[in-house]
Amino acid sequence: MEKKIAVILGDGIGPEVTQQSIRVLNAIGQRYGHSFQYEYGLMGAVAIDQTGNPLPDETIAICLKSDAVLFGAIGDPKYDNDPTAKVRPEQGLLKLRKELQLFANIRPVSTYHALQHLSPLKSKQLKGVDFVIFRELTGGIYFGKKELSEDKTRASDDCVYTQPEIERVAHLAFQYAQKRKRKLTLVDKANVLETSRLWRRVVQEIAAQYADVAVDYMFVDNAAMQVILNPAQFDVILTENMFGDIISDEASVLSGSLGLLPSASVGNTTALFEPIHGSYPQAAGKDIANPLGSILSAAMLLDHLQMQQEAQTVRDAVAWTLSHGFVARDIDPVNNYATSAIGDLIVDHIERQRDGGRRNSNASLNQSTII
Ligand code: IPM
Ligand code: MN
Repeated sequence: MEKKIAVILGDGIGPEVTQQSIRVLNAIGQRYGHSFQYEYGLMGAVAIDQTGNPLPDETIAICLKSDAVLFGAIGDPKYDNDPTAKVRPEQGLLKLRKELQLFANIRPVSTYHALQHLSPLKSKQLKGVDFVIFRELTGGIYFGKKELSEDKTRASDDCVYTQPEIERVAHLAFQYAQKRKRKLTLVDKANVLETSRLWRRVVQEIAAQYADVAVDYMFVDNAAMQVILNPAQFDVILTENMFGDIISDEASVLSGSLGLLPSASVGNTTALFEPIHGSYPQAAGKDIANPLGSILSAAMLLDHLQMQQEAQTVRDAVAWTLSHGFVARDIDPVNNYATSAIGDLIVDHIERQRDGGRRNSNASLNQSTII
């Protein structure tokens, strides 16, 4: 197959981790006879520096004519502590989500046996943890009217949802649950917020169409606690934009490192794939960042292009590096591998199809590092 992929490297460690994903996609292309054509677009602080605009129109056009978007990260400390900055890197990402109508953000949370010791949770609590967060991505408080009074002493952000906005993401989440453990938890704050009461009513109505999915409802404050106390109870979590932002960062620590988690944003046009970590500016350019969040996002991209076997090959290669201790500094501060070295190992694994060596480990550390 021939596929066009829009690439947005972004800021901080975005370029170096995305570069490893591109190498991995190329190795998959080689092995399975696909050709991936990349077209690069600017977004974030790098786009502000070069064009004055965090999301130039050209980038939107490149995304819209591609089969998928691979995105690194955005954000730069020079904007974070300046509440008066009129133009911010994050505006680029928010606008892109809106322009591409990416209304559902899918964040799988899984754990790896080899990394359980890094999780703040005890390993018995991690048993059976495998859930997916469906976060609504183009509505709610992120996109409501924002106001700051003239004397700058009063501010407001409106939180608005419409029934169709809730329905479209809820249907996706229910369909996803049907292919998994058939459980869906709506996380809201229906004891306080009118928008949450609308979510609850709409989800209750839709639930009737998915009789095979068990539904439960949880207030977000309790959900924040349950994600830590008993994460194995969840299968699909469905929630609005800001609750999803917060709960998904919280859930990411279960796996042992934020650097591992991928995400997909899907909607009415081209889907976008990005690691959930940010731009980690302190590590930028040092070749120390963990590329696995990006590489696993590339695996989700392959799934989306109906290349399931290819996606599994990438996941197997990632699992192989983790189980052999070929990990970045966030996972092992003493014995660690460079971003590019982990990319080398994964590419090598895909090329050589070292299936036999994967489980019973014929490949010793030395053999595997000499490529
Ligand atoms: C995320 C990020 C973004 C968000 C920021 C960068 C605007 O935190 O993708 O979760 O809040 O949605
Ligand atoms: Mn976030």
